[in-house]
Amino acid sequence: MAKNKFNKDWLQDHLSDPYVKRAQREGFRARAAYKLLEIDEQDHLIRPGMVIVDLGSAPGSWCQYARQRLIELEKKQGIHTEGRLSGTIVAIDMLPMEPVQDVHFLIGDFREDQVLLEFEKLLPGTNSEGNRVDLVLSDMAPNLSGVSTADSARMGHLAELALDFSVKHLKKDGALLIKCFHGSGYSQIVESFKKVFKQVTPRKPKASRDRSSETFLLGRFLK
Ligand SMILES: C[S@@+](CC[C@H](N)C(=O)[O-])C[C@H]1O[C@@H](n2cnc3c(N)ncnc32)[C@H](O)[C@@H]1O
Repeated sequence: MAKNKFNKDWLQDHLSDPYVKRAQREGFRARAAYKLLEIDEQDHLIRPGMVIVDLGSAPGSWCQYARQRLIELEKKQGIHTEGRLSGTIVAIDMLPMEPVQDVHFLIGDFREDQVLLEFEKLLPGTNSEGNRVDLVLSDMAPNLSGVSTADSARMGHLAELALDFSVKHLKKDGALLIKCFHGSGYSQIVESFKKVFKQVTPRKPKASRDRSSETFLLGRFLK
């Protein structure tokens, strides 16, 4: 009974949510697109020609936004060629994802060697730094058990792995944006970020529900 009420309340909230309606209107697969949009509007993360990696990309609204933003910026600069994106977007998820035009999608767990090998094959030519990625995005969350200490530990672990991945692949002036949860383990994630990045900033976009402990952490410029 309580569970039914919870499901009913969730459905009611979902249907009346302005971001859900806006996503339907604007063709985004998930309201999550507006979290990235807001952070990008504030921090100017996406720029033409960038190599962007989206960890935990399904159903694909962050990829849709990143592609749309790249095209918009290319058009503003007069460098847009129809059908040829100046940047590269690589998306990885354990779940299948409907194709997004111009986005390279890899299905699998980003922690697996095979997936990493495939990923490296997709990166465009090397630069003098060896590392080639400008921006890593991670909206990943572990399967939640409802036991907050266990969930925080899993979230922390996933964040650390996204950080390791970024240290390995980001250019010196690159950036990592991850989703995390306020609660036990959060300050440890911030400390780990501070060891690696010169600039670390928390972000809570309006599209992230107030009652949710979800927050985002942005690290820029590797030390
Ligand atoms: C909240 S969804 C992402 C939504 C996406 N940003 C969007 O806008 O459509 C989180 C995704 O992370 C994926 N995920 C979680 N852990 C992962 C892992 N270790 N490797 C790859 N994908 C993972 C899940 O399968 C899930 O699809």
